[in-house]
Order: sequence, then structure tokens, then C-alpha cells
Amino acid sequence: MITLTVNGVDRQLDLPGDTPLLWVLRDALGLTGTKFACGVSVCGACTVHIDGLAARACVTPLSEVAGKTVVTIEALHEDEIGRKLQQSWLDGNVPQCGYCQPGQLMSASALLRQNPNPSDADIDKAMSGNLCRCGTYTRIRTAIKQAAKS
Ligand code: FES
Ligand code: FES
Repeated sequence: MITLTVNGVDRQLDLPGDTPLLWVLRDALGLTGTKFACGVSVCGACTVHIDGLAARACVTPLSEVAGKTVVTIEALHEDEIGRKLQQSWLDGNVPQCGYCQPGQLMSASALLRQNPNPSDADIDKAMSGNLCRCGTYTRIRTAIKQAAKS
């Protein structure tokens, strides 16, 4: 049995320790906001927070998060930074197809927690691992800056 906290709720999971966190979230817990895309840690679609830091759920085994705190896109609105990002994403009409956006938002949220007033270079560096096939990068950067100022 492996115990972890997901979005503020303690969870006990009777699953193999090598089960990717992404499948734990999506299949075992029904938290389908976190997306599967590449599956090999190159696109960022599966980004969540583990103990407050952005991490790739597709390559993180369940055993590695035992006793830790995981936050997914479903809980983004539960803190002020998340709510500001949601508003700036809406104001800037950021998403196109939307598939990459949960991961983008979780990376942006982790950035603003560590750096409340990021420069363009800071944003580009922090967001460089999140790919968007629709090319929303410029709007994402603008929205992060708006959230930082609001
Ligand atoms: S699905 Fe995890 S990084 Fe692409
Ligand atoms: S909005 Fe379509 S992949 Fe990013």
C-alpha cells in the first residue's frame, strides 16, 4: 500500500510501485485533467506539482511520490496564484485546442510560486519544456506576465 496526498486528500493505493503517476491520477483517481501525450518526458502535457515543484507525471513512478504531496490541474484554483493564472488565461484567450494547457498552467503556477515577477527570459526558461502544437507561446507568456502583475 502506498500513501500520498493528492489535491489535499490522503490516498492509499494498492498498485505496483512502478505504476506511472500519470496513470494513477487518470485511471485510479479519475483526475483526467492531467494529459498523456509523449509519455517520455519531452512535452510537458502531464505536468503536476510534487511537493510544490513542477514534475512530469508520465515518468514518475508511484513509489517515488510515497508520502509526498501531489497537486493537479483540478486544484489549480485553490490558491491565489492559480486563480490569477486562470483569469489571465481567460482574458488572453490563451488555449487553442487546449490539450497542452493543463501542463502549461501547472508549469506557470510553479514558476510564479518561485519567482513572482519573472522576466521574459525567466518565463521562456521555465516554460521551455512545455510544448504546444498550436503555437500559443506568445499568449502564454503575456498571460503569465498579467498574472504576475495582478
Ligand atoms: S506526457 Fe509526460 S512529458 Fe509528455
Ligand atoms: S493549445 Fe493545442 S497543443 Fe497547445
